[in-house]
Amino acid sequence: MACVSIQGGSPLNGEIHIQGSKNAALPMLAACLLAHGETKLYNCPHIRDVYNMLKILEAMGCHTQMHPDHVTVDTSPALTGEISEADASAMRSSVMLMGAALGRLHYVSIPWPGGCCIGKRPVDIHLKALEAMNVCIRSSDRGLECQTTGLRGSTVDFPYPSVGATENVILAAVLAEDTTVIRHAAKEPEIIDLCLFLNAMGADIHGMGTGCIIIHGVKRLRSIAYRVMPDRIVAGTYLAAAAATGGDVTAVDVGTRDLGPTLDVLADMGCGIVLKNRQVRVIAPPLLLPAECIHTQPFPGFPTDMQSQLMVCLTAARGTSVICEEIFEDRFKIVPWLLKMGADIGIEQNKAVIRGGTPLHGCAVEACDLRGGAALVIAGLMAEGNTLVGRPDYIERGYEDICRDLSQLGAKICKV
Ligand code: EPZ
Repeated sequence: MACVSIQGGSPLNGEIHIQGSKNAALPMLAACLLAHGETKLYNCPHIRDVYNMLKILEAMGCHTQMHPDHVTVDTSPALTGEISEADASAMRSSVMLMGAALGRLHYVSIPWPGGCCIGKRPVDIHLKALEAMNVCIRSSDRGLECQTTGLRGSTVDFPYPSVGATENVILAAVLAEDTTVIRHAAKEPEIIDLCLFLNAMGADIHGMGTGCIIIHGVKRLRSIAYRVMPDRIVAGTYLAAAAATGGDVTAVDVGTRDLGPTLDVLADMGCGIVLKNRQVRVIAPPLLLPAECIHTQPFPGFPTDMQSQLMVCLTAARGTSVICEEIFEDRFKIVPWLLKMGADIGIEQNKAVIRGGTPLHGCAVEACDLRGGAALVIAGLMAEGNTLVGRPDYIERGYEDICRDLSQLGAKICKV
């Protein structure tokens, strides 16, 4: 059984290039369905979730290819909207294919999108919006079957700024009749990148990054070449690791605005932050300050995808910190493992109280979700002695090669 083995105690120092964004690349791969011909995505990360998305696109009839510096998706062959359980079961992003498949084929059938270990992950906001766009949705024990005689623009008012639902509606709206307005849309940087990609293909989208996105339907989109934005959560993970190990790390080729919410919290914990053109440097203080109360929020709030990594950092702070997880109902799964390593953390519903200043000691732990797995690696970097992190396949869903990247910064880490 593969593990990541970490010998703790070395501060991280140096520069690290950041991979392309998982959460930008996945909706862009779905968007390829909307153009005839071959689309090229540069800086697409080599991660499990991308491989799984390419597998689903292949099952729909596309020809896909992963090159060292780009991915190609050719949608010239005859395509099917039938997505099987076998193809989609590896991850949730098959939901993201709904809008694009409806835009291209006017039909899609997907297996019930499973929840995952961070929460139930309902899709009610997606479905209500698509129904308002003239989509008829039938649910069966096999999954969801969606059909339309033609997508029609509509004004949709989201009860919550769901990232995935915002992406699905945008993908359904770009080739729809008339205009679609999304109120309370998600503002994440990955949404902006998706809209810039679609506009470069010939779409007519305005307001991305604000809470109100307007999409004027167009007749056709052309396949293009595009470069995916850097991954702000991978960058945040490595910069948090610098803070946790008393290090000094510069992430290169990153969007400094995208990292703003994470950097604000690291600065409040006493870190020095240096911003240069597309570079972010974090210099750890001799002793981290506790965080009074951090609430995870939709962008531009503190990202839920950085919550586990921050929790690990706060075990080293001198004092008590509080984290409230406002987005997912089950995202404290690393706590039992951190307690085993010597941390002092109490959970009350969605609130974690971290009493810092407790040195961690290395032991065998196990990843149970993507970001929690990355956070356990940070704990291993901080701990005295050796830590083995099991189920690295969770980490590989979103990190190209966490051992390669952290070794480059001086970590004693390898996959065994
Ligand atoms: C995206 O998930 C990301 N995934 C997640 O990243 C990220 O944590 C999340 O956005 C929040 O930023 C991708 O982009 C592939 P949501 P998504 O719809 O779209 C509720 C990672 O680690 N909700 O904004 O599923 C939902 O239950 C992953 O990279 C509904 O109630 O997130 C949750 O509580 C993890 N009904 C909240 O909204 C719906 O129809 C946020 O979900 C949809 C969502």
